[in-house]
Amino acid sequence: MPFRRTKIVATLGPSSSSTPVLEQLILAGMDVARLNFSHGSPEEHKARARLVRELAAKHGRHVALLGDLQGPKIRIAKFAGKRIELQQGDEFRFSITHPRDAGTQNVVGIDYPDLVKDCKVGDELLLDDGRVIMQVEQVTATELLCRVTVGGPLSDHKGINRRGGGLTAPALTDKDKADIKLAAEMELDYLAVSFPRDAADMEYARRLRDEAGSDAWLVAKIERAEAVADDEALDGLIRASDGVMVARGDLGVEIGDAELVGIQKKIIAHARRLNKFVITATQMMESMIHSPMPTRAEVSDVANAALDYTDAVMLSAESAAGDYPVEAVKAMARVCLGAEKHPTSQKSGHRMGLTFERCDESIALAAMYTANHFPGVKAIIALTESGYTPLIMSRIRSSVPIFAYSPHRATQARVAMFRGVQTVPFDAAALPAEQVSQAAVNELLKRGVVEPGDWVIMSKGDSYDTIGGTNTLKILHVGEQLV
Ligand code: G6P
Ligand code: MG
Repeated sequence: MPFRRTKIVATLGPSSSSTPVLEQLILAGMDVARLNFSHGSPEEHKARARLVRELAAKHGRHVALLGDLQGPKIRIAKFAGKRIELQQGDEFRFSITHPRDAGTQNVVGIDYPDLVKDCKVGDELLLDDGRVIMQVEQVTATELLCRVTVGGPLSDHKGINRRGGGLTAPALTDKDKADIKLAAEMELDYLAVSFPRDAADMEYARRLRDEAGSDAWLVAKIERAEAVADDEALDGLIRASDGVMVARGDLGVEIGDAELVGIQKKIIAHARRLNKFVITATQMMESMIHSPMPTRAEVSDVANAALDYTDAVMLSAESAAGDYPVEAVKAMARVCLGAEKHPTSQKSGHRMGLTFERCDESIALAAMYTANHFPGVKAIIALTESGYTPLIMSRIRSSVPIFAYSPHRATQARVAMFRGVQTVPFDAAALPAEQVSQAAVNELLKRGVVEPGDWVIMSKGDSYDTIGGTNTLKILHVGEQLV
C-alpha cells in the first residue's frame, strides 16, 4: 500500500454511525472524523467519538476528532406549509416580527433582528447557498422588501447570505459556547470556528477553549467575504488560528463562484507559508451522495487541491448522509495518491530567499532540505510533544515520509491532519539518551519503512519534553551502531 500524504476528513452522520460503516471508513483511509455540531445531540456525538477511538485503536490507526461549531449562520424561520416555490419577478419579504412558524408565499420570519439594519436597497441576498437570489428594494423598521431575481424552492430554516458579506452576527453563539464545553469533555483534537470575522473572534474562541479546559487546536473556517477582502485580513485570521478550512459553501455564496478557485489557492498558499495546516472542504465529491462513482470534475477538484498541497480534503454530506460513504473515502484516497505522483507535489522551493523566525522552524526546514537533496534518505523522524515540529516540516513539499514520534495520545491523533505525517507512538524520555536513535530507527525497521543502508533524518531537542525545543538535526545510517 503506497503512503498517501494528503489526509481525508470525513463528516460523520446518520450514514456513518454504525460500527461496520465506521470501521470501513477507518480502513478506507479516514484520517480525521468531523462531528458537525449543527446536527445531532451531544449523546450522538459522544457515541460516535467513542466508537471512532475504539475502532481506530483496534486497527492500530490514529484518527483525529474535529468538532465543527455551528456558528451564527443566519437562517429564515418556518413556513406554514414547510416549503414555497418562488418565481423570478415575485415580491418577497423578510420580517423580524412575523410569526416564526407561519411563513407564506409572500413573507417569512427571520431570527436575526439586525438584518434590517445591516441591509440596504440594492443588496443581493442569497438563500439556500445561492439557489434562490433576491434584490432588496425597500427597507422598513421591521422588514426587507425584495424582488426575486433567481427563483426556486424555499423551505424551513434555509440559510441567508449577502453578496459581498458583511452581515455582522458575532461569531460565537450561546450554543457554540456550550459545544466548546462539550468538546472539552470529549477531549476533541480540533475545534472549527464558523464564520470568524477576524483575529479577535479566534482569540475569543481560544479564551473560551482554555476556560473549558480543552487543548483542541483551533481551525478558522474561511467563509466570509471580509475574511478574504485583502492579504492583511486573511493573514490576520490565519495567524490567530492553528489551521484553516476553505469553507467553500458559504464563501462561494458571498464572493461568487467565479472568485472562489483563485481564493482557494491563495488560502492554501498563505496558510502553508504561515506554518498552519489547511483543509479544503465542501461539495468535493457531491455526486457521490447518490452515486458510487465521482464525476471527472470532482476527481479534478480533489486532485487539484492535492496538487496545491492542501493538508486535507473533506467530505460533508457524502460521508454523513450519502448512500456511499465508504466508496467516497476510497475514491478520495485513490485520487489523492494519483495526484501525489505528479512532480509538482514533490518539488519544493524551500523558502529560498526568506528568513526563518524560530530555531525549531530552522531545524525543520533544514531537515526537509536535506531529505529532498540527499537521495538515500527514506524517512524523517520528528520527536515531538505537541506535533508542532512535524507540522512545520510538512509545510515543505517532499516525497519523503515524516514520522511524528510522541508519547501523548492527543499528539498521536492530532498529527493525522498534517500532510505527509504519520504517527509512531514513542516515549524517548523513558530510554537512556544513548539508546534513543537506535530505538527510533528500529520502529521504522519493524514497519518495513527502511532497511540497512538507508538514511534517516531525526530531529529533537536537548531535553525530551519541551514544546518548541527542537534544536538538533541528525542523519542516521540504518544498519550501523547508532548512538
Ligand atoms: C520531543 C523531543 C524534544 C523536543 C520536543 C519538540 O519532546 O524529545 O527534544 O524539544 O519534542 O516538541 P514540539 O511540540 O515543539 O514539536
Ligand atoms: Mg459554512
